[in-house]
Amino acid sequence: MITSYEVFVPAIMGSGSSLRTGIKVRELGCKKVLLVYDSGLKAVGIADTILENLQNAGIETVIFDGVLPDPPDTMIEEAAEMARSKAIDGIVAIGGGSAIDTAKGINVLINNAPPIMKYFGVQKNLKPGVPMIFIPTTSGTGSEVTNMCVVSCTSRGNKDSVVSPVCVGTLAILDPELTIGLPPKMTSATGVDALAHAVESLTGAHSNPLSDALARDSIRLIAKWLPIAYKDGTNLEAREHMLLASMFAGMAFTNALVHLGHSIGHTLGAKFHLPHGIACAIVLPEVMEYASKTESKKVRMVCECLGVNLAEDATPEEIGVTTKKAVRSLLKSLELPNLKELGIPYEEVIKVAPFVTADTGFALVPYRITAAKVAEMLKSAYDA
Ligand SMILES: [Fe+2]
Repeated sequence: MITSYEVFVPAIMGSGSSLRTGIKVRELGCKKVLLVYDSGLKAVGIADTILENLQNAGIETVIFDGVLPDPPDTMIEEAAEMARSKAIDGIVAIGGGSAIDTAKGINVLINNAPPIMKYFGVQKNLKPGVPMIFIPTTSGTGSEVTNMCVVSCTSRGNKDSVVSPVCVGTLAILDPELTIGLPPKMTSATGVDALAHAVESLTGAHSNPLSDALARDSIRLIAKWLPIAYKDGTNLEAREHMLLASMFAGMAFTNALVHLGHSIGHTLGAKFHLPHGIACAIVLPEVMEYASKTESKKVRMVCECLGVNLAEDATPEEIGVTTKKAVRSLLKSLELPNLKELGIPYEEVIKVAPFVTADTGFALVPYRITAAKVAEMLKSAYDA
């Protein structure tokens, strides 16, 4: 088998590393950068600290602080227009996946004419943009190290993504102090997105030895540190390990892709407006149980990385059931709500099954599965 490892982003990490932003921007040769963040980050002082750091390094700044969740194409196009008119030569994005994806979308449009929807899908020949530095303030999306940006298409009413080298950051800065203020519910909702990335890339058809190593360590880190970060957000060690886990999972899935958990997640998220991480993780225990039918060796790895041992001679069914319980136990320790607790009627949940099999990512599911089986999985997860 020929395997290539294509997408990796340089990163620096550690407490206070975000205070090296100005120096790093200068080293990249940028003189005037667009600073991208949402207004919440200004309120907690993070945006101003980075802004000051950039200015102290002699970098001119242009601010776009209008980042919306699930970044709409129209917002990205307006911000890109501003970036072009101000002739910026670099982008610094601070925040969760929405801020980083907004920056990527802007970068796509710096030298490629709008609308951004023209570039949905895999793009190998886009004109390059400018250097981008990503500073995540959540631990989950891994967007700081991926090659895609997810965009809400306002005219079509769905989400799609641009997959391109133009979406790859030049540097990721992982400062755990910036994630200290993340509330418990956001900590768990984003952390389980990283879990889904790691688990799905490990058990997917495109996994490779490098993505496997990253995914396995990510699962180990999440199993140990996410419950701690959830219970005590000020635990800097837990925050640091979660940033690392999220980055590992991001690197794993950008090289090995995700599958059924995300197909279910995209569908549930679009229909019931659930946070992405919760939507992807909510049926993950059942996804592992089902995956064990054909991917039992990999599902065994998931189980063992979660700290649950299996007998040498465990059957695929036994591996599936035990792994389902292990994943669910982790979700329960994070008090992640099930579909019933989210207030979604059972009949409505079951109706989404055919849409899951129509999701664009469904082709990546490494085993055969029908809409009826997806409905069974949704039923099992509904009030589990
Ligand atoms: Fe995700």
